[in-house]
Amino acid sequence: MNAENIKNEAYQLIDKYFMPAKAIIVKDFLNTYGFWDAPASTKYHGNYPGGLAEHSLAVAKNLLMLTEKLGLKWDNPGSPFVVGLLHDVCKMDQYKLISTENGYQYVYTNDSIYSHHGEKSICMLANCVTLTQEEIACIRWHMGAYETDTNEWKYYGNAIAKYPNVLWTHTADMMASHIEGV
Ligand SMILES: [Fe+2]
Ligand SMILES: [Fe+2]
Repeated sequence: MNAENIKNEAYQLIDKYFMPAKAIIVKDFLNTYGFWDAPASTKYHGNYPGGLAEHSLAVAKNLLMLTEKLGLKWDNPGSPFVVGLLHDVCKMDQYKLISTENGYQYVYTNDSIYSHHGEKSICMLANCVTLTQEEIACIRWHMGAYETDTNEWKYYGNAIAKYPNVLWTHTADMMASHIEGV
């Protein structure tokens, strides 16, 4: 899907799942911080301009599909879209394009004022949307087993026990990045 189609589809879904005033704020937030042009990684899935938006929309659609097929219940019925679209906003300022001998490539930046991954997304969203506790848990733990600190497993288990949709969020993220390749 090309970048314009991705943005158009995302805008339609933002209008569907957010109240009108909030939809304006969410679009403004994404536009301001370069969501539509950012990559999703330096060398893995979505390592091209627009990769972040493509990946995020894919995760949102996977979570909506899983919710419908499996009858998942959420505190906020719009959460599958909210979590999917916004779980990786931490990546909006995580990469920069540099020129190399072979052309261009993305490298990590190190001037963000927030660290980690899911936590960074939650920090960046704090002025944009009021997340439910379930949405916070799902965004915080969307990397599941790919968290680097193994001591975190206990907390991941606790999060799944309290909010089973944490596991489905991680599944939707893995489906997009490891099966669909976006
Ligand atoms: Fe992520
Ligand atoms: Fe992701």
